[in-house]
Amino acid sequence: MKGANVITIMRLLILGTVLGIPVARPQDLTNGFFDGLPEPEPTGAPFGTETSGPAVDRSAIIEATVAQATALDTPRADPALTNSPDSTDPGKLRERSPSSEAATPSGYYLVFSGLNGATQAPSYLTFKSIPTYDPGLCAAKCNSISSCRFFNLYIEINANGQIIKCSFYSIRSTASSATNVGQWRNKFHVTINNSNGYAKYQPYPPVNGFTVEVLGGAINGRRLASGDPDPYMGYTSIEASDPSICAIACEKKTAYNSRHPNSEQTYRACNFFNFYHLYKNGEGYRTICSFYLIPFDSSYATNHGYSSHGDTYTIAESYGYTRIVQQGNGGIVAS
Ligand SMILES: *[C@@H]1O[C@H](CO)[C@@H](O)[C@H](O)[C@H]1NC(C)=O
Repeated sequence: MKGANVITIMRLLILGTVLGIPVARPQDLTNGFFDGLPEPEPTGAPFGTETSGPAVDRSAIIEATVAQATALDTPRADPALTNSPDSTDPGKLRERSPSSEAATPSGYYLVFSGLNGATQAPSYLTFKSIPTYDPGLCAAKCNSISSCRFFNLYIEINANGQIIKCSFYSIRSTASSATNVGQWRNKFHVTINNSNGYAKYQPYPPVNGFTVEVLGGAINGRRLASGDPDPYMGYTSIEASDPSICAIACEKKTAYNSRHPNSEQTYRACNFFNFYHLYKNGEGYRTICSFYLIPFDSSYATNHGYSSHGDTYTIAESYGYTRIVQQGNGGIVAS
């Protein structure tokens, strides 16, 4: 997982470096931007008797995020775009089964139930097998992973018998992505049954040193006066649903800029970031942080969505985090 995270983010970095120049106007949504984004593979837990996947390595994610945030000072187009994707149909009445009998753990809500497919989504984190069909066991594990927002509980029947698995994701998923219906393995047809999906209710945790505002879209920050510097400082795509990682990147970005002042001996300080989830055709796709010199309130949260090559991108779970101690004059600090 560690290697894969770093590789994915390094790939993003390299692509961003190559494709991000020349740049469109900050925050413009362009086909070019979406063409340049690498396609994350929808993934889920592997079949078989392994009992758990690798631990989610937060420090590797932070390292890669900070590298990405500081590598380019040139602002790039923000993939910003809102609106929650459609919620899934309420479940029909079902016969009694482990999936219909299971109690929804506190802090979670049931997204789908009783499907014959496992979740395949780009925000896959890891998995764990458990001794009994109990969503509470999955929830305990999900709660121990700071970026876990969704889990899928199901029964896999393979040549060795049945295994109960929970797989974990950093962005909430839907019934339409419970698409892994099993496979033939050594002449045995592995099946998936009693597949339930649960999403976390919990609002995003406060981040030390920042105040938070819930936004209806992604921020489209602008100069407040025509002579002001461009407030937009670029964005990163992170492989974790954890705004505290954006805050670390914001601080490191400022620290980096302070070591590289311009000829007027000033530098640009990060005083605000926007954290949100980008959905592609209704499925969790990317977690984005975008950085700014100055804070913007909900009246600037005007990016709601974008369509490119038949794909529809939407935004949800958008939050504005304002640094409590603002730095510089409009974010410009004399060094
Ligand atoms: C399990 O899923 C398979 C499809 O993969 C389906 O054919 C079978 O009927 C399901 N079993 C139960 C008990 O629902």
